[in-house]
Amino acid sequence: MSTHPTTAPAGGTTAERGPAHLVSLENVGKRYGNVIALREVTMAVDAGKVTCVLGDNGAGKSTLIKIIAGLHQHTDGTLYVNGEETTFGSPRQALDAGIATVYQDLAVVPLMPVWRNFFLGSELTTGFGPFRRLDTARMKAITKQELADMGIDLRDVDQPIGTLSGGERQCVAIARAVHFGAKVLILDEPTAALGVKQSGVVLRYILQAKERGLGVVFITHNPHHAYPVGDRFLLLKRGRSIGYYEKSGIALGDLTAQMAGGAELEELTHELAQLGGHTTQMQQVRADMAESLARPRRQG
Ligand SMILES: Nc1ncnc2c1ncn2[C@@H]1O[C@H](COP(=O)(O)OP(=O)(O)OP(=O)(O)O)[C@@H](O)[C@H]1O
Ligand SMILES: [Mg+2]
Repeated sequence: MSTHPTTAPAGGTTAERGPAHLVSLENVGKRYGNVIALREVTMAVDAGKVTCVLGDNGAGKSTLIKIIAGLHQHTDGTLYVNGEETTFGSPRQALDAGIATVYQDLAVVPLMPVWRNFFLGSELTTGFGPFRRLDTARMKAITKQELADMGIDLRDVDQPIGTLSGGERQCVAIARAVHFGAKVLILDEPTAALGVKQSGVVLRYILQAKERGLGVVFITHNPHHAYPVGDRFLLLKRGRSIGYYEKSGIALGDLTAQMAGGAELEELTHELAQLGGHTTQMQQVRADMAESLARPRRQG
């Protein structure tokens, strides 16, 4: 272990860096030529905690995780991994540092069995020299066990992964990251394409990963998905941080209101009205939105 600088960041945010953080960002920014995709973002990822990154389309969420995942390099500020200043040159380097990323468009081979996908690129073999072959039995057994440990009961690890639901596939990807020793798990909108029930399943595995001591970064549009599982919340808007809260510092109602700024909701309601506010369905949507704005702001 090396020594770590212990200076607190400017602004007195809750993301002081120190030896305890698996990953932390301090005033991190990213410019693509003239486009500033991200500016002055400060946040931390800790073992056994879920850090949620919330924001609308184009807010900079993917840019942020690409920096942590080694796909892009930040152009401003500092990224710390285990307290050390770091710039990853490639996703491989991030992976070697224990940072695993599950992208929304999961890189799976749909026709290959679940266990093949689980071990894709890290296949186990048995025997030596010309007698070396895939250790199919062991890979199947491990896959089954790892999934069972995460509470996923698959009938058959031989079935093509393409036959699993979107939620189950996300869960296999999470179990895989856990098995291969990830310390930090980044999930880019894992619930975006899922219905309520499947989203619930994925949220449950996020909690499982947290309980196993991983530091999770959970990216989502949806405060209702983030709030129940999150320990802290970073809100992004047009590349800027508009808030970074511990759960005790913000209630779900406030998170929702911050996400959809009051003025924007007004505008959206107005637009919906113009589209046909006379239909009962539209009226229901407007009522729901009004209700979500007016929801009592409980203390988390
Ligand atoms: N390679 C790039 N070159 C130039 N601009 C980029 C690049 N990647 C992202 N941007 C810009 O940076 C901003 C943030 O994009 P980003 O993909 O991080 O947003 P996001 O929050 O992930 O959005 P979404 O919810 O749609 O996935 C956008 O304005 C986008 O156009
Ligand atoms: Mg994105």
